[in-house]
Amino acid sequence: MTDPSVVAPDKVLIFDTTLRDGEQSPGATLNTQEKLEIARQLARLGVDIIEAGFPAASPGDLDAVKRIASTVGVEPRLDRDGNPAEPPVIAGLARANKRDIDAAWEAVRPAKHPRIHTFLATSSIHMEHKLKMTPDQVVETVREMVGYARSLCDNIEFSPEDAGRSDPRFLYKVLSVAIAAGATTLNIPDTVGYTTPEEFGRLIYNIRENTPGAKNVVISAHCHNDLGLATANTLAAVQSGARQVEVTLNGIGERAGNTSLEEVVMALYVRQPVFELDTNIVTQEIHRTSDMVSRYTGMVIQPNKAIVGANAFAHEAGIHQDGMLKDKRTYEIMEAETIGLSHSKLVLGKHSGRHAFRVQIEKMGYHLDNEELDKVFGRFKDLADKKKVVTDSDIEALVGDEVFQPQETWELVNVQVQCGSNLIPTAVVTLRNTATGQEVTEAGFGTGPVDAVYKGINRIVQAPNVLTEFLVQAVTEGIDANGDVTIRVAVPESRGYSHTAQGRARRRLFSGRGIDTDIIVASAKAYMQALNKLLAAQDEQASAVAIGEGETTQI
Ligand code: KIV
Ligand code: ZN
Repeated sequence: MTDPSVVAPDKVLIFDTTLRDGEQSPGATLNTQEKLEIARQLARLGVDIIEAGFPAASPGDLDAVKRIASTVGVEPRLDRDGNPAEPPVIAGLARANKRDIDAAWEAVRPAKHPRIHTFLATSSIHMEHKLKMTPDQVVETVREMVGYARSLCDNIEFSPEDAGRSDPRFLYKVLSVAIAAGATTLNIPDTVGYTTPEEFGRLIYNIRENTPGAKNVVISAHCHNDLGLATANTLAAVQSGARQVEVTLNGIGERAGNTSLEEVVMALYVRQPVFELDTNIVTQEIHRTSDMVSRYTGMVIQPNKAIVGANAFAHEAGIHQDGMLKDKRTYEIMEAETIGLSHSKLVLGKHSGRHAFRVQIEKMGYHLDNEELDKVFGRFKDLADKKKVVTDSDIEALVGDEVFQPQETWELVNVQVQCGSNLIPTAVVTLRNTATGQEVTEAGFGTGPVDAVYKGINRIVQAPNVLTEFLVQAVTEGIDANGDVTIRVAVPESRGYSHTAQGRARRRLFSGRGIDTDIIVASAKAYMQALNKLLAAQDEQASAVAIGEGETTQI
């Protein structure tokens, strides 16, 4: 079996950066267990390379990458034909300095196929104003740091940040130095989503033609979506010879996001005769992976999002429905089943036992220990009592809600609400402090029942924040559906800023999601999850500063 980053002539490698660039989306903070579960699902989806994080950001980030490397990075998997396949390459991001490269190497080295991904900006604006380095200093740093990374690891990716706005001649020089120093993949980022497809395609073509050694390494495209052109630019790059694409599920990422995995993969699949290229993606896993990423990051998918939006396969207009009934191909260029979408089906009933439940959960791709299984099974039984039809979507929602919780400082014990047309909404909330076991009860009044509950919680958990988003959805159709509440809270400005790997200030947002047939309870759970993430991040930041890791701790 070969190294999964060796590219066959008719293949495009899929490098997924959901856990690194995707996690840089405001509010998309993931805990380690969620990252692990997403990484497992990415392996099942068939991605070739998983960028698992930015290990130098904090001890927590390093630990998460290491855990992914030592589990998902060594476990054999099945390819789309059901044959045994190599584990994915696990990559860790590092700025071009020894401290970052050492942290990345420590984190990825347990993987069977580790990769260090190091980067340095090459545009005049970044060199002058951000790095405060001369072009010659940048060239020398690339030579030294790519060489240093290569002395540790055989698989090195180098990215000239802001390549899209860099002088092409300078770029060829830097890239040739990176190749000579040992880079095996050259990734070309359009960091600010500035280029057009024609320009970006030409840039990739010119790099291949003008950079000594470029035809012996893999050229990769990394596009951002500021002008809505990320997918078009990435496909243009592929047509100019790029054989690795850097993508995220649902296109999440900084600002307007990154190129979306599902769009590029399905474009290559549906328009195979145009591109004549293939990927290793198991397309039937796309929907499940997209759903998992949305659930854990709290980044809700817009209904009209290509491929994975709720309306992507819905045909409402009468004229469309008529055509669809006559022949599906009139308005459908791909089948919903290709991305793993099937009509929600009854998976289990209220008489199903724990064993049948475990078998079903494992078939759905979750690995729960006995304690976790007990929790989710209990929730399933409660739900089956209230709701006639329990679907796979319900079960996925329960697993997300019950198992992948952040480390909890406060646990919701009870919530009780009184409201109505002539009443002041009043809530009584009981929380348990998980460290001391102490239960605290408080009341709150508000403009509505959710406001009252949140005020009651705030009196107990002293964590100043501003609620910036509140969204209620139903997990499935019908009046008895589970309510699914997603919220986002922001930390007040004076203490809420951190930095990305590229050194940009980033306001700290925390998302929370709660599932319950009662939407007030779901709202309380969502708020508790966001608050617990906020408290855990404050603890982690404090410990990072205490051990001298404080400068730009958050990616
Ligand atoms: O957008 C960008 O330039 C990046 C690099 C770190 C590859 O994410
Ligand atoms: Zn990026």
